Amino acid sequence: MTLTVGVLTSGGDAPGMNAAIRSVVRMGAHRGCRLLGFHRGFEGVIRGDFETLEPRSVSNILQRGGTILKTARSEAFKTEEGRACARQVLDECGVNALVIIGGDGSFRGGHALDAMWDGQVIGVPGTIDNDIHGSDATIGFDTALNTALEAIDRIRDTASAHERLFVVEVMGRHSGFIALDVGTAGGAEEIFVPETASDLDVCAERLKAARAKGKVMSIVVCAEGDEQGGAFEIAQKLQRKTGFEPRVTVLGHIQRGGAPTARDRILATKLGAFAIEAIQDGKTDVMAGELRGELVTTPLEETWTRKKDLDAFLVALVPILAK
Ligand code: F6P
Repeated sequence: MTLTVGVLTSGGDAPGMNAAIRSVVRMGAHRGCRLLGFHRGFEGVIRGDFETLEPRSVSNILQRGGTILKTARSEAFKTEEGRACARQVLDECGVNALVIIGGDGSFRGGHALDAMWDGQVIGVPGTIDNDIHGSDATIGFDTALNTALEAIDRIRDTASAHERLFVVEVMGRHSGFIALDVGTAGGAEEIFVPETASDLDVCAERLKAARAKGKVMSIVVCAEGDEQGGAFEIAQKLQRKTGFEPRVTVLGHIQRGGAPTARDRILATKLGAFAIEAIQDGKTDVMAGELRGELVTTPLEETWTRKKDLDAFLVALVPILAK
């Protein structure tokens, strides 16, 4: 029997999603599957909005950011009725398995679908946030990190020229992976992440002490979801506490765009192909991931109920290296 595999991208886009689609399609075709690409995530499933994908349909997308299938955060799919509608469409199209490329919200949707549908559901982690248990890295994280790093290196030049304090906000509503890694790679004095309590008094004292020792410029990196607020709020508070006049840069969605790095393309390629293998092995309700170089599957529910921790060694190093 020819397997029909649906593929979609859902939630915030991430560089490398196209590489993952390409890999799902080409590996699927290699294994004799029929491939359907649903548009705008679960919305496309609910509305029956899809296209047939063949190896040639995914030419020249490996190096492109965004997603050729478009993406969305579907409110309708969060409801029983929405999922029932999606199930009907999947059955009418003869879909046997659905590959969901996205983050934790998308996997919650996939898990709920699995509970009510006979087909197989496989997740592929695609989010710049890297906050998914079951894969050391998520597709898009490395690109976002390097985009943010390039920006911070540029900010460092002007910060140094003017002897200024900069507060730079990176993405991550609930997650500090980008902030911690880019702050470390960019030599930030302080890094504020949602996972740990941030103390602005301590930060202000450290910044003043550094200035007194001759350090003329400083960079503070914060994740957008830090409990102290975004970069503007943090800058205001630091200004009051230090008397410095900080400048603020919010990097925002530039972190989500651009050509994926080699690392992201390779990860996406491996995980897309591995998702097809998982389908052929009869797996369902799991995510395809890579842990310490091994391709593994993790139950979808664990991808958000089990927490992926920040690198504690790096966290401890930040104040030591900022001296
Ligand atoms: O995809 C993850 C992410 O970029 C988060 O880091 C950010 O908080 C959120 O998406 C922003 O989402 P949007 O602007 O698409 O609603």
